[in-house]
Amino acid sequence: MDARRQAYLDAMGIQTWAPRASIAVSTESPPPVAAGSVEAEPLARVPVEQLDWDALRAEVAACQRCALAETRTQTVFGVGDPRADLLIVGEAPGADEDRLGEPFVGRAGQLLNLMLQAIGLRREQVYIANILKCRPPGNRDPRAEEAAHCRPFLLRQIALIEPRLILSVGRISAQNLLHSDEAVGRLRGRVHRFPETDTPLIVTYHPAYLLRSPEQKAKAWDDLQRVHRILHGRDA
Ligand code: URA
Repeated sequence: MDARRQAYLDAMGIQTWAPRASIAVSTESPPPVAAGSVEAEPLARVPVEQLDWDALRAEVAACQRCALAETRTQTVFGVGDPRADLLIVGEAPGADEDRLGEPFVGRAGQLLNLMLQAIGLRREQVYIANILKCRPPGNRDPRAEEAAHCRPFLLRQIALIEPRLILSVGRISAQNLLHSDEAVGRLRGRVHRFPETDTPLIVTYHPAYLLRSPEQKAKAWDDLQRVHRILHGRDA
């Protein structure tokens, strides 16, 4: 452990001790909502699953599939290396993200950056996206139908990135990605597979939760070390 990494861990407030856990691998998009008029729907002639990055970005920016389009400032597409080994999937944009158009730019984002740095990764080296591309008003939880309308966009991002590993942060992300209703505490600690692509997937706590519950940071550090081992070919 070098001094720089130790400093990040100190900043995260977590102790450095080696985990011993072994792992076990456990293993449609809805139709677009009809637009109000022909003029209002110039896009979507090409199915989402065939769009390239630019067309996908434009499709998301113009999205009217659910009512969040009426309250968002802008869509929050995703950021990072489009060929990243590691894809991080959060929940939905908050107020800061809605204002700036980039995921994880608030306090939770700062902690996420530290968490990545703790395993030797810069934000620019991973890809960061959310279950939802638009902010739910008042930061309420995403609704099932909103997540269903947004899922094809995330699926297409995953297909284009072809990540080696997905890190799902928080309950909303994990339950949506895995079609599960289990708590994060029960989903973390093993390697899942993202159903549509069979990509290995690890669940950990959301950085916003870690800010509220710093006593859980040691478990998040375990999860991050598992991520590091998998990315370096030392784990399944
Ligand atoms: N929380 C999330 O889950 N995603 C963001 O982009 C910001 C905060």
